[in-house]
Amino acid sequence: AIVRVTGREILDSRGNPTVEVDVLLEDGSLGRAAVPSGASTGTNEAVELRDGDPLRYHGKGVRTAIEAVNGEINAAVTGMNAEDQAAVDEAMITLDGTPGKARMGANAILGVSLAVAKAAAASHRLPLYRYAGPDARLLPLPMMNIINGGAHADNPLDFQEFMIAPIGATTFAEAVRMGSEVFHTLRSALKDAGHHTGVGDEGGFAPDLRSAREALDFIVTAIENTGYVPGLHVAIMLDPAASEFYRDGVYDYAGEGVRRSVAEHVDHLADLAAAYPIVSIEDPMAQDDAEGWKLVTETLGGTCQLVGDDVFCTNAALLADGIERGIANSILVKVNQIGTLSEMLATVETAHRAGYTVVMSHRSGETEDVTIADLAVATGCGQIKTGSLSRSERTAKYNQLIRIEEELGPQARYAGRTILKP
Ligand code: PGA
Ligand code: ZN
Repeated sequence: AIVRVTGREILDSRGNPTVEVDVLLEDGSLGRAAVPSGASTGTNEAVELRDGDPLRYHGKGVRTAIEAVNGEINAAVTGMNAEDQAAVDEAMITLDGTPGKARMGANAILGVSLAVAKAAAASHRLPLYRYAGPDARLLPLPMMNIINGGAHADNPLDFQEFMIAPIGATTFAEAVRMGSEVFHTLRSALKDAGHHTGVGDEGGFAPDLRSAREALDFIVTAIENTGYVPGLHVAIMLDPAASEFYRDGVYDYAGEGVRRSVAEHVDHLADLAAAYPIVSIEDPMAQDDAEGWKLVTETLGGTCQLVGDDVFCTNAALLADGIERGIANSILVKVNQIGTLSEMLATVETAHRAGYTVVMSHRSGETEDVTIADLAVATGCGQIKTGSLSRSERTAKYNQLIRIEEELGPQARYAGRTILKP
C-alpha cells in the first residue's frame, strides 16, 4: 500500500522548474518520477500548472502543483494499492474534477501516476519495462533529432525537427552507434561550411539554415559520408510542427520567406518526400487544419507515416475522432499531454486497434528521468522519439534502452524498418 506521496520542485533541461514525485510503499519500495514540459504544445493538452508568481522563476514555479501532491493527492491515495494503477489514476482524475486536469495540474497528477507505477515495479523487484510489459521484448526504432529548428532553436528553420532513423540496424545498440556516427559527421560538415555547431533544446544542431532542403541536403550527405545508404540503412523523418507556422489559413514559412496555401504546403511536403528518403512526417498540418490533414493523408498516407502530435494530444477521444475522419496513420504519445499512465495506455490501445503506429515521445523540456524508455518497450509500440545524440537528458533514454536490450539478451528484438508500414 502507498504510505506517502511527496512532491518537490526540480529543474528541467531548459532550466525551468518542474515537478518530481516520490511514492513510498509500506514495504519500503520507492518510486520516483519527474515531469517533462513542451514548448510547441497542442491546444488540447492537459494543463501544466504554473504558479504565475513573477517573483519566482519568472512565474514558472510549480509550488501550487507540489502543494496538490503533498496535500490533496497524498491524502487521497495513501492506503491505496500501488499495483492498482487504474484506481489510483481514476482517484486523481475524480479529485481534480476538471476535464484538462487544470485544478491540481496535470504535472502534479502525472508525477504521482508514474511514480506509483515505478514504486509498484520496485516492490516486485522488476524493472519498469518488465513490470508494465511482462512479455515485452521489442526495442523501438529511434527517431533522432539531429537538426533543431522552429520553437526549439534560435535559427530561421521553419520546421522544428529533422530526424534520422537507423532502419537498417540489427540491434538497438547498433542503431545508437549509427546515429551517433552520422551526428558527428554532420557536425564536421556544418563546421566546414562555416556554420556554428551549438545545439538546440533537443540536442540537435541549430545552424542558421533557411530552408528544409538545405537541412536535408546536409543530412543526406552526412549519412553517405558516414558510409551508410540513405533510405536503406538510415532514413529521414520530419516534424514540421506545422501548428507553429499556420496563420490565417496559410502556412507562413518566415525563415524561407514564403507563404504557402494549404495545397501548396502539401505539395511542398510531397516534393520533399519524393526528393529525400523521408519515411515519416509528424504534424505535417496544423492541429486545427482539418481539411489540410485530410488532404495530406490522401496525398502521402499511402507511402509515408503521418504522425499526429498536436492534433491528438495523446487523447483517446481525439484520436478516435481522427480515426473516424481518416486522418494520419500514426500517433505520437507524450504522457504529460494526457496526464496519467492509464489514459496513455488506453490511447495506445485505441491506436493499435485501428492499425495506427505509435511513437513514444519525450518533450523538448526533459529531465534525467528515463521512464519513457521503459514505457516504449513495455507497450511494444516499436518507435521512440527522444532527441539527438547529445545532451544527457536525451542520451539517458538511449542508454536505458541499451541496458534493457542487454538485459533481454537473446529475447530482444529491434524493431528497425519492419515497424514502418506501408
Ligand atoms: P514539444 O516538442 O515538447 O516542445 O511540444 C516536441 C514535439 O513537437 O514533438
Ligand atoms: Zn511534434
